[in-house]
Amino acid sequence: MDAVAEIGEYERTALAAIAAAADAAGLEAVRVEFLGQKKGQLKELQKLLGQVAPDQRPVIGKKFNEVKARVTAALESRQSTLDRPASAAAGIDVTLPGVPFQLGKRHPLSQTMAEFKLIMSRLGFDAVDGPEIEDEQHNFEALNIPPIHPARDPLDNFYLSVADRRTGGPLLLRSQTSTVQIRVMENTPPPVRIVSLGRVYRPDTIDATHSCMFHQMEGLWVAERVTLADLKTVLRLFATSYLGDDVAIRFRPSFFPFTEPSVEVDMHWGDGWMEIGGAGMVDPNVLRAVGYDPECVTGFAFGLGIERFCMRRHHITDIRRFYENDVRFLRQF
Ligand code: DAH
Repeated sequence: MDAVAEIGEYERTALAAIAAAADAAGLEAVRVEFLGQKKGQLKELQKLLGQVAPDQRPVIGKKFNEVKARVTAALESRQSTLDRPASAAAGIDVTLPGVPFQLGKRHPLSQTMAEFKLIMSRLGFDAVDGPEIEDEQHNFEALNIPPIHPARDPLDNFYLSVADRRTGGPLLLRSQTSTVQIRVMENTPPPVRIVSLGRVYRPDTIDATHSCMFHQMEGLWVAERVTLADLKTVLRLFATSYLGDDVAIRFRPSFFPFTEPSVEVDMHWGDGWMEIGGAGMVDPNVLRAVGYDPECVTGFAFGLGIERFCMRRHHITDIRRFYENDVRFLRQF
């Protein structure tokens, strides 16, 4: 066989062996066999080149170098294929970097409510929940709000189109968390010391400071000799715990059907006073409605707007931000 044919034969068998190598070890054996510098087929071929007639040498030498380069390239390419994990063959490359994802955070209002519960628990108040769908007994009647009272106007409440399955009476989305006072006292003999945090619903026109759904924290402490002074102390301790020692609390006389006397609660922090909710001494009629004896126990109650506090602390100027779920807003907390 002449040298050109030998070189051709070498290339053909080398490429076939490379393609057939099933793993890295097999490919390495092929490399030693066809490209090894000390012995093997390449060495044989070089020996043969030495015997080629001098005028043929440049042509044959060029051909030899081209073939050697092609075999080397084929070997390298096969090597990188064998190095890749098996999953890559199925279209999944596990060596690629993962898809980054953003961890979620608790909503600022949820954070605020968790903090409120913690503060109030230090003052001895247990956190309890109540239903958001209520009957008139708990939303109005037991709270000393009679049927003729304007707060019961259907236009000021979200009445549901379904009736209470048990009583057949109307149902509505609760307009205040004061409902939970009744539910707790119905089921627990005094003393009680609770807070209840949650959503309330009112058909308000939505703007920067109004929403038809917002959150309240209701507080109730009924025991022997609880006074209005205790109420003010608790509210002051609560507000200073949340905002700092430079908070002042003041009461303004007011009216709520379920408290006597009743007050509006204002808070001073930074610039100016702002109203944070209502409060008062639980009306004897309310205590009687749940079977408590107003001659033996007294109590205070309060209802605070949760959004207001959170907005004040974080300098949020529009209540609607809380409910839009814009992550650019939510991520800041
Ligand atoms: N429920 C009242 C409201 O939503 C707030 C309130 C006032 C709650 C006085 C109370 C209270 O517990 O004693 O406007």
